[in-house]
Amino acid sequence: MVATGWNFRVTIAPMRVLGIETSCDETGVAVYDSERGLVDHALHSQVELHAGHGGVVPELASRDHVRKLIPLLRGLGIDGGSIDGVAYTAGPGLVGALLVGASVGRALAWGWGVPAVGVHHMEGHLLAPMLEESHPEYPFVALLVSGGHTQLVRVDGVGCYRMLGESLDDAAGEAFDKTAKLLGLGYPGGAALARLAEQGDPRRFRFPRPMTNRPGLDFSFSGLKTYAMNTLREHRNQPGIRADIARAFQDAVIDTLAIKCRRALRVTSLRNLVVAGGVSANRELRRRLRRVAEESGGGVWYPRPEFCTDNGAMIAYAGCQRLLRGASEPQAIEVRARWPLATQEGR
Ligand code: KG4
Ligand code: ZN
Repeated sequence: MVATGWNFRVTIAPMRVLGIETSCDETGVAVYDSERGLVDHALHSQVELHAGHGGVVPELASRDHVRKLIPLLRGLGIDGGSIDGVAYTAGPGLVGALLVGASVGRALAWGWGVPAVGVHHMEGHLLAPMLEESHPEYPFVALLVSGGHTQLVRVDGVGCYRMLGESLDDAAGEAFDKTAKLLGLGYPGGAALARLAEQGDPRRFRFPRPMTNRPGLDFSFSGLKTYAMNTLREHRNQPGIRADIARAFQDAVIDTLAIKCRRALRVTSLRNLVVAGGVSANRELRRRLRRVAEESGGGVWYPRPEFCTDNGAMIAYAGCQRLLRGASEPQAIEVRARWPLATQEGR
């Protein structure tokens, strides 16, 4: 690709990047080519491994990444000659799990003599819709809704992120999972709760829409789980109660997210919305946010369903964008359990 200006000429060589994701309970690998797009990707989910424990067990997660990462990479059929850079998730996430991807990624890059870059997991999520042929132009508002984060971010370009609001307690996905567990749906129960909600009566209960009647763009979802618990206790033996609670809970979360998205588009005067992270797989949420974006005269973009949850493709894409812009890092292997997204500018 050649970019020209009246007094300069920059040539950017095409770049093929290996991406590795091991921040939590999914081992993901992918190859992204800056000219040809996504070349290949593979994923192993640890959901079954953790299901019996009611949540992710960090030590089991790290050990499973060790077991699965190399075979997944072998399956991609890559070698040093075909890869120009390596990207791995450097945080936020479980430190032991992150270290597996970071060590393997850095070792491969060192062996192949190519650069390596540590990617912010949420940057991966928010850029995931850019993997699709139809994707938005910058700037846009991104709603990130995953198991660990609920964030509204103004995105002006790669690395230019301004936090508009975020959850003060449980993330939306976490609230889905905790409420699902309460309803006996196992872990992680977000998708199962959404399915049960389809059978629920929307008029039976009305749960609160937390923090919507005061200004600002922050979220608080932990009270909804308590509300669901109390409702279940009060009506325990009534027929259809679990489905009705699932419906009331989901309606409250979706309504709250929609109200805040509308507000974020209004205060930024932007029209386009990107929605990413595991909860963005929720069909009702998608329907609702499409309306919100249309009302503001713009559109809404999602990653394809398999890239809503954790995956290697989003890390390969984000890493490729960084490496194309000349990102370089010291060889030290550094990962972070916590890592504010807004510090990405100028990396
Ligand atoms: O992005 P992700 O794979 O992991 C994190 O980075 O946290 O998101 C996982 C979250 C889980 O909380 C899961 O219950 C939720 O996404 N989730 C859903 C649905 N599918 C996955 N929540 C609501 N409705 C769904 N259809
Ligand atoms: Zn994630």
